[in-house]
Amino acid sequence: MARINDNYLKLQAGYLFPEIARRVNTFCEANPEANVIKMGIGDVTQPLCPAVVEAMHKAVDEMAVRETFRGYGPEKGYSFLRDAIAKNDYQDRGIEIQSDEIFVSDGSKCDSANLLDIFGSDNVIAVLDPVYPVYVDTNVMAGHTGQADSQGRYEKLVYMPVTAESNFEPAIPTEHVDLIYLCYPNNPTGTVATREMLEKWVAYAKEHNAIIFYDAAYEAFISEENVPRSIFEIEGAKDVAIELRSFSKTAGFTGTRCAFTVIPKGLVGKTASGESQSIHALWNRRQSTKFNGVSYPVQCGAAAAYSPEGKQQISELVAFYMNNAKLLREGLTSVGFQVFGGINAPYVWLRTPGELSSWDFFDELLEKSHIVGTPGSGFGAAGEGYFRLSAFNSLENTVTAIERIQKSVAANV
Ligand code: MLT
Repeated sequence: MARINDNYLKLQAGYLFPEIARRVNTFCEANPEANVIKMGIGDVTQPLCPAVVEAMHKAVDEMAVRETFRGYGPEKGYSFLRDAIAKNDYQDRGIEIQSDEIFVSDGSKCDSANLLDIFGSDNVIAVLDPVYPVYVDTNVMAGHTGQADSQGRYEKLVYMPVTAESNFEPAIPTEHVDLIYLCYPNNPTGTVATREMLEKWVAYAKEHNAIIFYDAAYEAFISEENVPRSIFEIEGAKDVAIELRSFSKTAGFTGTRCAFTVIPKGLVGKTASGESQSIHALWNRRQSTKFNGVSYPVQCGAAAAYSPEGKQQISELVAFYMNNAKLLREGLTSVGFQVFGGINAPYVWLRTPGELSSWDFFDELLEKSHIVGTPGSGFGAAGEGYFRLSAFNSLENTVTAIERIQKSVAANV
C-alpha cells in the first residue's frame, strides 16, 4: 500500500475557512429563511475595475488571432508586468528593486507555501500568534513541526504572541530562529508595523543570518503616513527578506489570481556544507520546473492596475472597503466593543464581549444576528477572546450587520 505523508495527520481540524463554511452551511440548512451576512473570509465583493476588464478583453482578443496568439509565457511573468511592478511599487517610492527580482505568480498563499520547497527541514521557524493559518499548516505538512499541544500550538515552532497587552507588537525572539513570517498590515489583527519595529527585525535577521518572509498583501490599504509599505524601505532588508504581494485584495483578483514575490538577488541561504547559495537562483529553478506562469489575459489585467485610470479606479475600490472598515470600527465601538485594526487594513479585530470564547461568540453572532465572522482562536492560541470581521462586503451589508449587532447588544443590556 502506498505510504502517505503522515505529517498531514498532525493538522488540527480542517483549514479554518472551510471549517467556518461548513458550520455556516449547517446553520443555513436549518434556517433557510435567515439572511446571513458573511464577514468571515476576506474575499472581495466589488467587480474588477473597468481598466482591468478592458485590458483583459483586449488580451483575450489577441489570443483569438494567430498573429497575436501566445502559448507558454515566461515562468517569472511577462516583463511588461514585472517592469510595471518594479517601477510603481518600488522604484517610484525610492526602493531599489529591479524587475528581474520579481516573480509573478497565481497567489501569495501558494507562494508562501511553495517557498518551503527551497529551504531545509531543520530551520527554526517563528510565526506571530494569531497568524494567517497557511504559514503554520504548510510547515506542518512539510514536516517542520512536531505534534500540536492542547492549545493547537505545534512543537518546534516559535510562537510570538501579539495581543492588545503588547500593543500588537511581537517581542523579538530571545533564541535563534532561521525563518520569520511577518505579515503587515497584519492579517488577522489589522494592525501595522512601525518603521522602528521593522528595523529591529532586520537587525535581528542580520545578526542571526535569518530570512524574513514579509507578507504585504494588504499594503494598498495603508492610510496613515509613515507606515512602511514594504520591508525593503528598511535599510539592509534586501540582504534578509523576501516580500510577498498580491493583486487579490488590492485589485479584486481573489477569483482571477495574480500575485508576486520579490526575492533580491543578493539574498543567500547556506548549504549543508556551509556555503552561501542564492535564494533567487533556487526559486527561479523551482518555479521554472513546477510552474508555468499566470495566464496572459490575467497578467494584462494586473498591468492595467498600474495605468493612470487603473490606479484611480483601484484607489476608489480601496476607499470603498476602508469606508466599511471605518463604519465597523465606529459602529462597534459605540456599543462598547473594544476594536483594533481597520485603519490601515480591511480587517477589524475586536475583543469578544464578557467571557465568551471566540467560537462561542461566532455561534452567538451567527444564531442571533445571522452574521459570520472569524473566531480569533482559529488564527492561534493568542487569538482566543478576539474576533475578526472583514470589511470586504457591500455597504448595505456592512450597515445592516452593524445595526444587527447594535440591536443584539441593546437587547442584552
Ligand atoms: C483571509 O480571510 O484571511 C484571507 O482571505 C485568506 C487568504 O487571503 O487566503
